[in-house]
Amino acid sequence: MAEDSLDALAQEVAELIINAKKLVVFTGAGISTESGIPDFRSPGGIWSRFDPDDFTYQKFVSDPESRRKQWRMLGEGHLTTLAEPNLAHYAVAELDEMGRLDCVITQNIDHLHQKAGVPAGKVFELHGNMQQAVCLGCGQLYPFEQIKLRLDKGEEIPDCEACHGMLKPNAVLFGEQLPYDVLTEASNRSSGCDLFIVIGSTLVVYPAAYMPIYAVQAGARLVIVNLSSTPMDREADVLINAKAGETMTRIVERVRGMVK
Ligand code: APR
Repeated sequence: MAEDSLDALAQEVAELIINAKKLVVFTGAGISTESGIPDFRSPGGIWSRFDPDDFTYQKFVSDPESRRKQWRMLGEGHLTTLAEPNLAHYAVAELDEMGRLDCVITQNIDHLHQKAGVPAGKVFELHGNMQQAVCLGCGQLYPFEQIKLRLDKGEEIPDCEACHGMLKPNAVLFGEQLPYDVLTEASNRSSGCDLFIVIGSTLVVYPAAYMPIYAVQAGARLVIVNLSSTPMDREADVLINAKAGETMTRIVERVRGMVK
């Protein structure tokens, strides 16, 4: 995207943020690619290397081979604990520091919004996270770092040390219910905001992709920052097909200049 058009669009979004009463930021895997975490549907993304049909809850609990594959995919270094926030995460966290952010609704399981400084109570993780694994037998919780050590030592299907039950990462698998309280609160926040900014998502996975629809139906302005097209592009008041890090940095620089 040309510099001057990115600057002009960043200015437009900054003015929307300054005039907003309730800003909700909605993120997908595209906000984390600049942290080294592959997204799912870009060329070379995760679903070009793993088959999404293997990553269902039903297969995880019924097929040891699927469990081995899922732990391998989820245990891949940067996908879980080694990644660091990037400029886009820090820009969103700065909006919170300025008192301009109602909340972040994320589809990501990488915990990078919290690592960048957004208070945990303001981050709604629709697809869970990788901070813990839970035993489906006795409910024992394990920090993911502990599980990762076992995976790195070659254990392919870690089980519960207490009861040898089946361990499952806290990430929501396909076919698994999203955490009800998180989904309810995220839906309410989306319907209650007046500015909704999407960063790095194809908006093709439901119910997460209902969030921008609830916002627009409630009369909120919609901004989309995404490298590729989405089904909501026509509803966007501002559409920026550029990289999240650069774009969000320019937007927050302008907001900062306006609040002084
Ligand atoms: N800046 C801006 N946009 C980017 C960047 C970047 N640096 N990198 C990638 N993108 C865009 C891609 O063009 C793509 O449109 O981010 C989007 C990522 O889309 P997906 O890979 O589909 O990720 P997401 O929308 O989060 O997927 C939703 O699908 O597989 C499930 O549970 C998984 O939470 C995930 C859900």
